[in-house]
Amino acid sequence: MSKERANSLYPASMLTRRSKVGIVGAGFVGTALAYACQIKGAAREIALFDINKAKVEAEALDLAHGIQFTPAASISGSDDVEVLRDADVIVITAGPQQKPGQSRLDMVQAMTNIMHSILPKVLNVAPDAIYILVSNPVDIATYMALKMSGLPSHQVFGSGTVLDTSRMRYLISQETGVAVQNVHAYIAGEHGDSEVPLWSSAEIGNVPLSRWGATVNGGIFDDKLKQRISKDVVESAYRIIDGKGVTNFAIGLSVTNIISAVMRDEDRVLTVSSLLDNWNGISGVCMAAPTLVGRSGVGRVLDPPITLDERDALTRSAEKLAEVAKTVGL
Ligand code: LAC
Repeated sequence: MSKERANSLYPASMLTRRSKVGIVGAGFVGTALAYACQIKGAAREIALFDINKAKVEAEALDLAHGIQFTPAASISGSDDVEVLRDADVIVITAGPQQKPGQSRLDMVQAMTNIMHSILPKVLNVAPDAIYILVSNPVDIATYMALKMSGLPSHQVFGSGTVLDTSRMRYLISQETGVAVQNVHAYIAGEHGDSEVPLWSSAEIGNVPLSRWGATVNGGIFDDKLKQRISKDVVESAYRIIDGKGVTNFAIGLSVTNIISAVMRDEDRVLTVSSLLDNWNGISGVCMAAPTLVGRSGVGRVLDPPITLDERDALTRSAEKLAEVAKTVGL
């Protein structure tokens, strides 16, 4: 609540708290996220924190100059962590930039160093916030934030494969001509090379994908097409990074979607990364699964029917994440 507002527009007794999102990192992802939050009206206050004072102040000012054209928002930016105080949701986007050809898991040490330098300060000013990790490798970052903060596991989760799921749905939509909103398919596991598209439970409308365009020999989604789409999803980030150096717009929109589910207590099903407890036999790893997301963060993890092959792939993904987590002491 700005002091000016408190004193000039309303009697103090009438003032209510405004929803606030704090974004750590004013780089390509953090600013794309702030921009998406502003356009979608995801929070009444949007605060950007970055150690680069000139940049974070300039980014906040540039966004604020567009407020006339978006839902009402108070936008601030500072290199003082105070700017994040009392945020309802904190999103950690600060992290190493994935280089062409570099895997997300390769960045684990750089991410660890950044997390150790930033997270304690942020926790001091926003101990009650819902924490959403975006920095890659996001599943490891999520587990690290959970361990470092000591917060309950519902309060700390990662963007997981929300973006990968969106990429899969986009490609299915492109293949079939059906609106992407009517494509129901999920990717689970690592946000990365070992992710697992859950093809066996995918549907278009209420038609199982296996029957889409069904002929005597079954639908158009044969193994060849599914493998092409799965490969395209895994390679998406590499291709975009080769072309423009980063990915930022779709992850910004994906995380805005997650923030809205928290702020508006929507209980939406999203493939966020959280600490799993005997999900298809997987425990003690932060990994993406279809999960209810609302004001308290992550709720029930759904249990869609999966094939033995999908279960094996999920186990391999969890094992890969656990192996890399160990290299940074988790
Ligand atoms: C991507 C980044 C967010 O997949 O990891 O585009």
